Amino acid sequence: HAPDGKKNGDLFRAYNDDRDATSQDTLYATSNGVPMPHPYEVQRVGENGPLLLQDFHLVDLLSHFDRERIPERVVHAKGGGAHGYYETTDPLDDICLADIFSEKGKKCPITVRFSTVGGESGSHDCARDPRGFSVKFRTDEGNWDMVANNTPVFFLRDPAKFPHFIHTQKRHPATHLSGADDSTMFWDYLSQNPESIHQVMVLMGDRGIPDGWRFMHGYAGHTMKLVNKKGEWVYCQIHMKSKQGTKFITQEDSANYSPDYAQKDLFEAIERGEYPGWDLKVQTMTAMEAEDLWEKEKINVFDLTHVWPQGKFPLRKVGEFFLNENCKNYFAEMEQVTFNPSHMPPGIEPSADPVLQSRLFSYPDTHRHRVGANYQQLPVNQSRTPYRFANFQRDGSMAFYNQGSRPNYLSSIEPIKFRQRTVDLGKTHGHFAGEAITFLSEIRPEDFNAPRALWERVWDEPARERFVSNVAGHMSKCTVEEMIKREIAIFREVSDDMATRVEKATGIKGYDGISGLRFNGTHNGMAKSEDLRVAN
Ligand code: HEM
Repeated sequence: HAPDGKKNGDLFRAYNDDRDATSQDTLYATSNGVPMPHPYEVQRVGENGPLLLQDFHLVDLLSHFDRERIPERVVHAKGGGAHGYYETTDPLDDICLADIFSEKGKKCPITVRFSTVGGESGSHDCARDPRGFSVKFRTDEGNWDMVANNTPVFFLRDPAKFPHFIHTQKRHPATHLSGADDSTMFWDYLSQNPESIHQVMVLMGDRGIPDGWRFMHGYAGHTMKLVNKKGEWVYCQIHMKSKQGTKFITQEDSANYSPDYAQKDLFEAIERGEYPGWDLKVQTMTAMEAEDLWEKEKINVFDLTHVWPQGKFPLRKVGEFFLNENCKNYFAEMEQVTFNPSHMPPGIEPSADPVLQSRLFSYPDTHRHRVGANYQQLPVNQSRTPYRFANFQRDGSMAFYNQGSRPNYLSSIEPIKFRQRTVDLGKTHGHFAGEAITFLSEIRPEDFNAPRALWERVWDEPARERFVSNVAGHMSKCTVEEMIKREIAIFREVSDDMATRVEKATGIKGYDGISGLRFNGTHNGMAKSEDLRVAN
């Protein structure tokens, strides 16, 4: 399946000359292009005298060095990836007007970045942590970024909790210790927010440490919308299924891997010509089916702590993608790449999921801070449309493609061209306005159904034992017993058996269940009404 030769067309047309030049093709010079006889020369007064401020060569070298780092990503800082291409195998044009899905054989170049979530940029690739899985599809109608994870569910359904949760995985303000030495904050948060249980079980179970990046699936997690040419729409869930299958590393074995294991594994596989691939698949659901799912099973499609049952909503294959080209320059092509869930071409739209809605704001906001106002102009972030596009964004720091002399306002003297709207949004493009979400953080008995199925039906006995041992190992770094008691209460809502085993492994007796507990982050719909009163 994988192509060969010069890989993905003119992906880097803007900077290919530089990217492909070898050292032999170049001449040493200062940043303004003045050739220099040698890099180790300084201008100095006499033999042992002070240096001269006029020595631009040295000032140039040191001052650029001083500015080499951009801020690391506030989450997902450790990662890596490669370039490749996507191809549609089974058109989706009956339900989606996106050009990239319109016909069999439609292709586009892609860039993919994998990551861990909590760790710093030098942290270990084999951490027990979800993995990020971001894909930039450079379609003929602009870039589509899928900013996904390797797990279908997430820890929360209320976006306000995200910074709190992430802060519990960062260093402690006073001790500066990370979770590796002190997991108290982590368990404090989780034991106050029971809706995290499904993701906690995935994280602490056998799937918690993927074996590199080639052997894992990806899930958009959020419900999205697909719109067709008639303006009709369906909800969808997007899955990326590894053609290599899945492989995981056990807790004990993880100590035998090097910190950059996943990066090395992917890089070397691509160099060997073993191009990893994934199938792109969708589940779809109508608005009526979504209301029905809420009525009957209390699964809210805007709540990414739940999955869509695959029996009812089967997967439909759309296409596949392969990674066949390593970065030539990690910083330019991975550190500066910016993935943004609000980058969507016509035909793909966000749903009303509040976490997704918040992410639509958060990513471009951080990109303007992390990379700069003109981050879209960097070669790796540029779109690759067959038309030259124009708009009214000009100037700012590092404006390389500043749109020439064209008017920077809607001019009648030199008018700009527009494309006709393909769908009459006003008439046909309705919204699902069910009142499914009132309290984002209300805990309901249904929150424990899928976790219970994992424990009782999906996992075998050794998998249950490994989960208990992983949890107990992690909890041994938690210094406050109250948090463990609360977390065990959450486990008990899943299964008495599970809670009792964790009690045995930790030597700590947990609470009987969550109905009598008060959580600082949660409307405990399972509590008796008197428990809900706020303490003075
Ligand atoms: C990275 C915010 C939830 C997947 C990031 C970054 C921010 C962020 C600020 C750094 C981006 C950068 O510097 O380029 C948030 C917020 C969330 C949220 C506010 C919830 C309210 C999620 C969820 C997923 C996800 C639910 C997956 C389903 C990712 C991935 C990256 C990332 C894969 C790394 C992107 C890359 O490789 O450059 N997130 N995130 N995030 N996030 Fe989220």
